[in-house]
Order: sequence, then C-alpha cells, then structure tokens
Amino acid sequence: MAINEMEQDIDRVFFTEEQIQTKIAELAETLNEEYAGKFPVFLGILKGVYPFYADLMRRLTIHVQTDFIAASSYYGGCVSTGKLTIKKDTDVDLKGRHVVIVEDIVDSGNTLYLLKQHLADRGAASIKLITLLDKPARRERDIVPDHYCFRCENEFVVGYGLDYDEKYRNLPYIGILKKEVYGK
Ligand code: IMP
Ligand code: MG
Repeated sequence: MAINEMEQDIDRVFFTEEQIQTKIAELAETLNEEYAGKFPVFLGILKGVYPFYADLMRRLTIHVQTDFIAASSYYGGCVSTGKLTIKKDTDVDLKGRHVVIVEDIVDSGNTLYLLKQHLADRGAASIKLITLLDKPARRERDIVPDHYCFRCENEFVVGYGLDYDEKYRNLPYIGILKKEVYGK
C-alpha cells in the first residue's frame, strides 16, 4: 500500500466525513424550505468551497442556478492580506435574484466584506451567506454568516477544500496539521 502522504501530516481530526455530511444534510433541509420557489443563485467562492458546494448541491431539491467566483484575500500562507483578488467573476445577471454566497470558512471576514461590496450594486433581491466553517474569534469585519455547519476555534484547519500552501484540499475530513509541517 502506498504511504498516505496527507494523513501522516495530520495532528488531529476535528470534523469527520460523517459529521460533515450530517451537517450538510441539515443545512440543505433548511435551504430547501427557505428558498422554495425562489430559484436562487448559489455563488461558490473558489477554490476552497468545491467539496462543500458539490455535496450541498446534491442534497438540494429546489431549483438553483450554480456559478462560481474565484476570489481570495490570502496568498499561500495563513494570513489574510485584506485585499481582494478576483480571478474569475460571475457573469450571471443578479438583478432581482436571490443570491447565496457559499464559502468554505469565514475567518477575518475580509474576503466576504470586500466581496459583498463588489456585488452590492448589481441589484440582487437578497444576498445571504452560508459557510462550512465559522471562525468568529478572529473576525475583523461585521460579517455574520446566515448559516454555518461548524464553529471552529482560532486554529488553522485543513481538509475538505481547505488548504495549507495549496495542499490538503483533497483530504475527506477537517483537521489540524502537525507543527513541524509548517515551513517544511
Ligand atoms: P477571511 O477573509 O479572513 O475571512 O478568510 C477567508 C478565506 O481564508 C477562506 O475562504 C479560506 O480560503 C482562507 N482561510 C481562513 N482560515 C483558514 C483556515 O483555517 N484554513 C484554511 N484556509 C483558511
Ligand atoms: Mg483558501
């Protein structure tokens, strides 16, 4: 058997695959009721959101339009830069639409704060925010997710879309890295 390159770097598992799927099923139930008959646009924020987005979509039974924005206020490491970089914008006309921004994690809130400004003048009927993880201890902006799956402490987590230096996104669960992995 090949060595599990990722697993040997993990110190602790925070949220298992099963816990994640259970929470996503609950969130989908809530959204199926909240957006019934509204044909919302689910805007996923790449790259980190992709597993959460895909698993959530498969549990929604309402009509939804799907699109992505590639944006981040991070470059490689663990610290938010406070400046938003948009590599791919949405070309959906948001006028009169119910928009649901889907994030992997809300940390400082800088990305969402800047992204909400970026989308503000497009005439959306409503804009809500859902996130897999909420890390409120480090919030620098007045950003409160409308729905989240899990709260986490002030620790840098990886897996299920979340990266450290572009690695570990393909880990099926969420955990923290061993100290010696940083700066390897
Ligand atoms: P914010 O702008 O500080 O709220 O950060 C949002 C983005 O930073 C997220 O979409 C993630 O891509 C990244 N991020 C924040 N905290 C973590 C973490 O603990 N692990 C991995 N990525 C993180
Ligand atoms: Mg990221």
